[in-house]
Amino acid sequence: MKFIFSLIFTVILLAAAALVFAWTGVYNIAATKPHTGVISYYIEMLRDRSIAKRSEDVRVPDLGDARIRSAAFSHYHGMCRLCHGAPGYQAEEFAEDLYPAPPDMISGHIQEERSPSEIYWIVNHGIKMTGMPAFGRTHSDSELYGVAALALEIPQISSEEYRQQVEKIEGKNGGGYGGENHSTQEAAEHNH
Ligand code: HEC
Repeated sequence: MKFIFSLIFTVILLAAAALVFAWTGVYNIAATKPHTGVISYYIEMLRDRSIAKRSEDVRVPDLGDARIRSAAFSHYHGMCRLCHGAPGYQAEEFAEDLYPAPPDMISGHIQEERSPSEIYWIVNHGIKMTGMPAFGRTHSDSELYGVAALALEIPQISSEEYRQQVEKIEGKNGGGYGGENHSTQEAAEHNH
């Protein structure tokens, strides 16, 4: 009995200490000040386990189909490239100081560490409290699969090939950021 009381007391004490810690504002939430080692380790474990547990086994198609391919480049270039870069294209300036930083998509590290199902899940659902948006609400399944397929293949795509695809998209849409302009145009046409 005594043991249970001391256990409950310790838990209440710890919870109160955690509340006081947050309330005093001593923890620096600035994006310019990285988390301490222990907190980073804990958050990364939480993120990785959460993604591994939730991502169902899905089959991400390859980019063989011309329509999937063109839409995938269009969406990747309009959105993902801004934060993750692309062959021959840097990420935007604002992305450099996001915390956590968006990882480089063309080095091949992401594709080594995450399964295709996990990459698809991340694109669909996003990652809380990071700059990684969820694209599932605003994009169709085939667009999500296409963009995940491109994310998987992008380390093997040359700058030359990527540039050619982008020029095709920009030619079609009269310049600008490919896919997103395209969708806006389509939406405008639907409204007429
Ligand atoms: C506004 C910036 C931003 C945009 C746009 C964005 N991302 Fe991200 N993304 C991030 C950040 C930040 C992270 C790192 C999250 C973390 O560390 O947990 C991330 C993480 C990821 C990861 C997991 C990387 C890893 O280390 O395992 C994948 C995969 C990914 N993004 C794919 C995409 C794709 C595909 C698109 C386009 C559809 C996209 N992202 C658009 C910011 C962005």
